[in-house]
Amino acid sequence: MLILGIETSCDETAAAVVKDGTELLGNAIASSTEMHSKTGGIIPENAAREQIRSILPVINQALQQASGQKEPTTDQANNPSKRTASNMSQSHFIKKIDSIAVTYGPGLIGSLLVGVEAAKTLSYVYNKPIVPVNHLVAHIYANFISRAQNSKLKTQKRSPAFPALALVVSGGHTDLVLVKDHGDIKWVGGTRDDAAGEAFDKCARLLGLTYPGGPAIANQAETFLSHKNSENLNRFPRPIINENNYDWSFSGLKTAVLREVQKTNNIDQKTAEFSAEIQEAIIDVLVEKSIRAIKQFRPKSFLLSGGVAANKRLREIFINRIKQEKLTIDFFAPEPKLATDNAVVIAAAAYYNYSPIPWHEVNANPQLSIVDQLQ
Ligand code: KG4
Ligand code: ZN
Repeated sequence: MLILGIETSCDETAAAVVKDGTELLGNAIASSTEMHSKTGGIIPENAAREQIRSILPVINQALQQASGQKEPTTDQANNPSKRTASNMSQSHFIKKIDSIAVTYGPGLIGSLLVGVEAAKTLSYVYNKPIVPVNHLVAHIYANFISRAQNSKLKTQKRSPAFPALALVVSGGHTDLVLVKDHGDIKWVGGTRDDAAGEAFDKCARLLGLTYPGGPAIANQAETFLSHKNSENLNRFPRPIINENNYDWSFSGLKTAVLREVQKTNNIDQKTAEFSAEIQEAIIDVLVEKSIRAIKQFRPKSFLLSGGVAANKRLREIFINRIKQEKLTIDFFAPEPKLATDNAVVIAAAAYYNYSPIPWHEVNANPQLSIVDQLQ
């Protein structure tokens, strides 16, 4: 089954064509991150405007890749009369698509609407079934995409077995859920205030690093850790780490970082050290509580997902702790480009939870939670 996935929940405009939920045929992303780095964060109206500019070229690009065509030359792209041939084969290829999948929430309403309306229009015009997809659930499906074609690892790890514990750590959400089967997701815990990615972003801003803060902090921390020991990185608090629950709280960390920054002279010379400290504090609480949940729920797999899952040190520490604790569990983490927002995971989630609805019933829902069922 060929699914065209469309994702526009935040500042990425993405489209992808995925075969049978695992095989990536086309994958296109336009990001307005650079624009947001100038304002230090996302201004929703600007993000929505960029979505409108990018949505059709991105869908075209994904379809072109999937149909085996080369992307248009600059000359073709700029000159409509020379574009006819490639457009024809794109519209021919879209007829081969079995279904359209689109993120309907959560996210920024202005951004979500662009993808939802584009998907509804394609569904109506080409008479294709449409599957609305929960963005947070879709992040988990990054762990179901075939690795053989996308990664340097040529061996394909088998699909995750259920029951699985999934930790979704993104810019807006931190959710720990028990996935008993496709479509059977139970809430285990989550953040009480800021999300893990948000903590990275806000702390990075305090250090004068650009948006998005996660990769910026990770790079600085890597520099620091390349010549310093990771022991004694205890400058910042590990909020509610000892509470007997699976909740997190990151807003206190941001306040602690602010206080330290204010009383530190020459903070520019401490950026790498502070980055390592912040990263370690966030990772410690995420890993500690997840390990406790693994011991309680005894799942067959652990699925790390969401943008923060791109963090190399987070993956390493998870793997080390699982080994140390001798836990019998398969640990999965997507390759970094599938951890952050993309449409491949939207198409994959739709394949494994295939429940199309009439196009006119698809509505954007910015407040959707990870355990909300369709609509
Ligand atoms: O899942 P995602 O791409 O978008 C949302 O759904 O929010 O996550 C974006 C978040 C941002 O907060 C970003 O700083 C964080 O993921 N992030 C990282 C890394 N790459 C992205 N955080 C830590 N380390 C990284 N390497
Ligand atoms: Zn996301």
